Amino acid sequence: MIELKVNGEVRAVDVASDTPLLWVVRETLGLTGTKFGCGMAQCGACTLHLDGEAVRSCVTPISRAAGKEVTTIEGLPEEVRGPLQRAWIAEDVPQCGYCQSGQIMAAAVLLRENPKPTDADIDDGMTGNICRCGTYLRIRKAIHRAAGGGA
Ligand code: FES
Ligand code: FES
Repeated sequence: MIELKVNGEVRAVDVASDTPLLWVVRETLGLTGTKFGCGMAQCGACTLHLDGEAVRSCVTPISRAAGKEVTTIEGLPEEVRGPLQRAWIAEDVPQCGYCQSGQIMAAAVLLRENPKPTDADIDDGMTGNICRCGTYLRIRKAIHRAAGGGA
């Protein structure tokens, strides 16, 4: 058994120690907001937070999450999620939506580390999160909106 804290709740999972965290979150725990894209740390669809840092859960073995705090899109605290979610709606960001929970998880870390990012800071911070629908400009506007309290 491996114990980890997921969205504030201690969970024990009976999986091999090299099982990707993404599999545990989606398959074992049923938290399907985190998406599988490439499986190779290339697209960011699987981004969640491990002890507050954005990680690619598709290449993070569950052994690395043992004893740590995992936060998925479902468990992002309201004070973090609310402004981002409202900005996303105001800017009409998602198209197919597939990449968007990973984008929001990445944006949450970006804004915590840099509450007033420039365009370049946003482009840098979000560079590992690919959107096949090309919503980058709207994501950038939404991050500015969330940062400015105009969400
Ligand atoms: S699914 Fe993890 S980075 Fe693409
Ligand atoms: S909204 Fe479709 S992949 Fe980003």
